[in-house]
Amino acid sequence: MAYTLEHCLRSRQDFPAFARNPGLAYLDGPGGSQVPRVVIDAIAEVYATCNVNAHGNFAPSREVDRRMEAARAVVATFLGAESGSCISFGQNMTTLNFSLSTAIGRTLAQGDEVLITQLDHEANRGPWLGLQQRGVVVREVRLLASGELDPADMAAKITSRTKLLAIGASANSLGTVNDLALARRLTREAGALLVVDAVHYAPHFPIDVQALGADFLLCSGYKFYAPHVGVLYSRPGALDGLPTDRLSVQDPAVPYRIETGTLNHAAIDGVRAAVEYIASWGDGATLRERIVDAMTHIAAYEHGLARFYYDAVRSIRGVRVWGPDFAEGRPRAPTVSITLHAASAGDAAKALGEQGICVWDGDFYAARTVQVLGLAEGGGLLRTGISMYNTREELQRLLGSLERIAAARP
Ligand SMILES: Cc1ncc(COP(=O)(O)O)c(C=O)c1O
Repeated sequence: MAYTLEHCLRSRQDFPAFARNPGLAYLDGPGGSQVPRVVIDAIAEVYATCNVNAHGNFAPSREVDRRMEAARAVVATFLGAESGSCISFGQNMTTLNFSLSTAIGRTLAQGDEVLITQLDHEANRGPWLGLQQRGVVVREVRLLASGELDPADMAAKITSRTKLLAIGASANSLGTVNDLALARRLTREAGALLVVDAVHYAPHFPIDVQALGADFLLCSGYKFYAPHVGVLYSRPGALDGLPTDRLSVQDPAVPYRIETGTLNHAAIDGVRAAVEYIASWGDGATLRERIVDAMTHIAAYEHGLARFYYDAVRSIRGVRVWGPDFAEGRPRAPTVSITLHAASAGDAAKALGEQGICVWDGDFYAARTVQVLGLAEGGGLLRTGISMYNTREELQRLLGSLERIAAARP
């Protein structure tokens, strides 16, 4: 099923935030998306019907167990995973990645190498940089001025000493989509693990973890119309032996092995509802087919809007656009970051915020990227992100405001 402006306008009726705040243009999806009514209802339903702990011998507790296993199965389908037992939940991506790096770190020896990138969010750098305390050598793949990772540098830095590459699927700062096929080929040749941060990728592209060949992949519900829940996919066998931080009384089997304490059952059921909501925009005989169809068409709609904005904003005098262009055939997330000659990103975001336009400024925790681009001192980037509910009219409003800001004297 195609996804057009008509579908977009219809989708807006599903999100209560638009009726509550009709004047706001939410162009801050990379920071976090709005949630549809069905997700809010699913969360409320858990509190109303089964707000009890899991694994009890009474009906509401069995209902919690049923919902959690259903959520694992639906998220597995969303990611193209082998089964629900590949899916672990946690507080957020950052917390899960710290748990993962701690566990993997215990299996590494002094002098082993881990490779991270200059284009990643700190959540996929900090947990690995912490392993330096154990004598692990952490190296970085270089970021080019184009906003892309240097493939030659990646190839040169993956050696027989490399035990793991932690890389984003897409950059939340610049919208770049990384060459994961290259990353997989090089890590496989070196016998290294591949850990993929798909937080910015998951809302905008269908994911097939098996085709990617990722050992671990992380994403975060609140970027794809769900509540704040972290998701970890582990390739069958990859998590089983890892010495995770966990209580002696805890189930050591996968996928529970890396989950600590009581999960946020209501929010996890909300993630299940969000995936089913996305699927409701697609055609197909199976849930997987509907997810892939919906994501493919929503992605095309978002891409068209982002491309329109990219072309229009770069023609404004005093605006510089950062990151790769929208060349035909190049995979690119619908996220566009700029700097203005006349105002810092923070001042521009404040002025736009006063006009009801929600965009983010600064480094978005992609601090290394902003530093490497030489933008840290000047206040970083002004980022516009496009979600399934955004319209061209909202972008025109943004462009009009940016023209006025750009025309003002610095
Ligand atoms: C690309 C990317 N990775 C990781 C994270 C961290 O996710 P979480 O807030 O779930 O820890 C974010 C959050 O903005 C992100 O954009």
